[in-house]
Amino acid sequence: MLLHLTQTHQQLQETAREFADKILIPSADRCDRAEEYPAENVAKLAELGFLGILIPEQFGGAGLDNVALSLALEEINRGCASTGVTLSVHNSLLSNPLLNFGTPEQHERYLPKLASGEWLGAYAITEPDYGSDAASIETSCRREGDEYILNGTKAWITNGSHAGVIITFATLDPSLGPKGVCAFVIESTFPGFQVGKKEKKLGIRGSDTVQLVFDEMRVPAANLLGEEGEGFKIAMHTLDGGRIGIATQAVGIAQACLDATVAFAGTKTQFGRPLPASQLVAHRVADMATEIEAARLLVMRAAMLKDAGLPHGKEASMAKLYASELANRCARTAVEIHGGAALGRGAPVERLLRDAKITEIYEGTSEIQRLVISRHCFPRDKK
Ligand code: CAA
Repeated sequence: MLLHLTQTHQQLQETAREFADKILIPSADRCDRAEEYPAENVAKLAELGFLGILIPEQFGGAGLDNVALSLALEEINRGCASTGVTLSVHNSLLSNPLLNFGTPEQHERYLPKLASGEWLGAYAITEPDYGSDAASIETSCRREGDEYILNGTKAWITNGSHAGVIITFATLDPSLGPKGVCAFVIESTFPGFQVGKKEKKLGIRGSDTVQLVFDEMRVPAANLLGEEGEGFKIAMHTLDGGRIGIATQAVGIAQACLDATVAFAGTKTQFGRPLPASQLVAHRVADMATEIEAARLLVMRAAMLKDAGLPHGKEASMAKLYASELANRCARTAVEIHGGAALGRGAPVERLLRDAKITEIYEGTSEIQRLVISRHCFPRDKK
């Protein structure tokens, strides 16, 4: 518990915690096995106002901050990581950049529907051939009158087939590198927009992950986000916030691993004594608990810096790097302490082990986080 949490923060955390315990934990396994988008969970989260956490009250949102979002996301991800990533992408990768870079007209059109959950949001930058090297994307855009025409394929897009509104990125000219990238707010009803293949995944199997195909897609010029050529910076700035969301997801998964391990070990005896009396088990649990607290503090520090309007890219990358690698360590420990009981399908820790892996990959791999952090340690000369 962080001492300075406001009453609003505490209430939100309590609501999310109760929702995770009563609704998400009992249904997470079913969602994973069926590989089914958790539509009911998302609808209930919309009713609770969790789809508009960052959106100002004038647009129907809760008008809260990134600390609030992190508190909610940790609990939701503790319950069900498929639901958690759906919520994280909607808030951090769609609502947040719209708020930061959108025009008053874009705010009026999109924020109320995002806050109410009428429209789900997605963020589409990755392509089949370009993931980590985001500045090299090939999806093209050209201006024709008062429209832009987009052509290309986006891959691994979370919420892609359920989203009503998506922020996507395209280049005016690949030879311009990052300076050629433009950001657009697109709607799934725009002519030329198609949902492509659904991905079959290792973990977070209930979340919606698809390709998106833009075939001469016509986008009103008014839907450019920021200025021409500013898209790459918008993408990176947005990911600074999104990475706090994924770090939070990792903390939630790690906490779920600890909870499952404590519940399991507390009921077992081995070699004639309770399992927690074994130092081998007790020390591993103590390490998990300590490192989870450290990861939580890294997440909160990044969220607080963001809320204060201060630079937070390095801190977001540190939080994501540490928390995602920790979630994987905790999941392995949980499986090892469960032993044979973890190997059968239907054991929660088996799902947690699969769910943890993606946190080291999406919104920038651990290698990309190390690159970002190291660039802050060794600032590059500006030419
Ligand atoms: N904020 C604002 N501007 C930034 C920035 C930031 N955080 N980071 C970089 N920039 C600016 C730089 O200042 C530079 O501008 P100038 O030339 O004017 O100085 C410009 O952007 C280019 O920056 P770099 O030279 O650093 O670019 P790079 O090509 O070396 O790439 C990178 C940097 C860190 C490797 C970047 O490509 C990256 O983060 N890659 C990973 C992509 C990623 O995370 N993808 C996730 C997909 S979304 C997802 O996964 C969602 C989901 O499903 C859940």
